[in-house]
Amino acid sequence: MALFNRKEPILGIDLSPSAVKLVELSRSGPRYRVEAFAIEPLGEGMMEDRNPADPEMVGEVIKRAWRNSGTRVRRAAIAVPTSGVITRTVPMPANFSESDIETNIPFEASQYIPYPVEEVYLDFEVKGVSQASSDMQDVMLVVTRKENVDAREAALKEAGLIPIVVDVEAYALENTFRLLMDTLPRPSEGGPLSLSKARESLTALVDVGATITNLYILQGERVIFTREQGFGCDQLTVRIAEIYGLPREQAEQAKRSGQVADDFAATVLEPFKQMLAEQIGHGLQFFFSSDQFASGRYTVDSIVLIGGGAMIVGLDRVVADVLGITTVVANPFKNMGSAAKVNSSALLRDAPLLAVAGGLAMRSFG
Ligand SMILES: Nc1ncnc2c1ncn2[C@@H]1O[C@H](COP(=O)(O)OP(=O)(O)OP(=O)(O)O)[C@@H](O)[C@H]1O
Ligand SMILES: [Mg+2]
Repeated sequence: MALFNRKEPILGIDLSPSAVKLVELSRSGPRYRVEAFAIEPLGEGMMEDRNPADPEMVGEVIKRAWRNSGTRVRRAAIAVPTSGVITRTVPMPANFSESDIETNIPFEASQYIPYPVEEVYLDFEVKGVSQASSDMQDVMLVVTRKENVDAREAALKEAGLIPIVVDVEAYALENTFRLLMDTLPRPSEGGPLSLSKARESLTALVDVGATITNLYILQGERVIFTREQGFGCDQLTVRIAEIYGLPREQAEQAKRSGQVADDFAATVLEPFKQMLAEQIGHGLQFFFSSDQFASGRYTVDSIVLIGGGAMIVGLDRVVADVLGITTVVANPFKNMGSAAKVNSSALLRDAPLLAVAGGLAMRSFG
């Protein structure tokens, strides 16, 4: 009996600045299974402005990831970085059909974007009747520069893969978050008179990458706020290189193994974690002081860490201590089985790095 639906799977492929990350999932009823995954490092300069600088070279790395993963699937979903996308809610007459919207959207978009319309790809989603007027409907406009998509598609094709879905990192992470929800600590339930009921509780998903950190605030399963901050784990590598006089490559190795010097934890690692926690706190302050969310109606009562930063042992503890908010490291695959060919201990270790790729792989199922 074929338990796992293997009809038309789609690979999730995250082309991030530090590595190509690949995930294949299958599903049987409510159960998911990891069929294959791989992380293949990208050399310095292979990605430029978060896009493949040379599709042929990045294509080679994708091909290696594909081979190492053991997958046979060639259809793939990719994501444009959240920072490379502009989204706007545009009001349109309520009686406009999809095709009316499609005809009018380029003109509307031209008023919202700082580039010529010829240089961008446009997409839209009808959100429903406008709150301001029942004569209008809200249309969410999604715009990205063509190069963000074209360079990724070209690299994929070089690797012999077929790009069939182009997503946005933030939306891929909404999928991941849906998987994660069951694994998160429940906010403590108060009685009917509990004060906590007066505020709406939100979750912060924090993607601590190599050079940037993205804060996503989620209301239920929806991202309602994002903010990019210019810090990440590479700063720790640079510190190690400086302080211990190591070349970059060796500093990177030392960072991952934790075997640097006796004073490493006290003089470098702990202050670095402290700094990360404070920066995450600054991101939250931006959220709470933004026009839309400054009302005091909201509270962030859990933080979920993903990305390379989540691999730093004990960062969750420090963030929880500094910010006073329950903090966990995400493992989107926690409740999943895995195929025999999958190295399950490597999957467990690398899970936080695979959050975007995992969310993209969910596109196989709608
Ligand atoms: N085991 C580990 N321990 C500590 N740091 C690690 C570990 N594994 C990876 N990293 C660090 O994580 C970073 C890469 O994280 P990630 O893959 O999330 O970044 P990215 O998405 O490629 O980059 P960015 O999001 O900044 O554009 C690198 O700085 C790397 O050194
Ligand atoms: Mg990243």
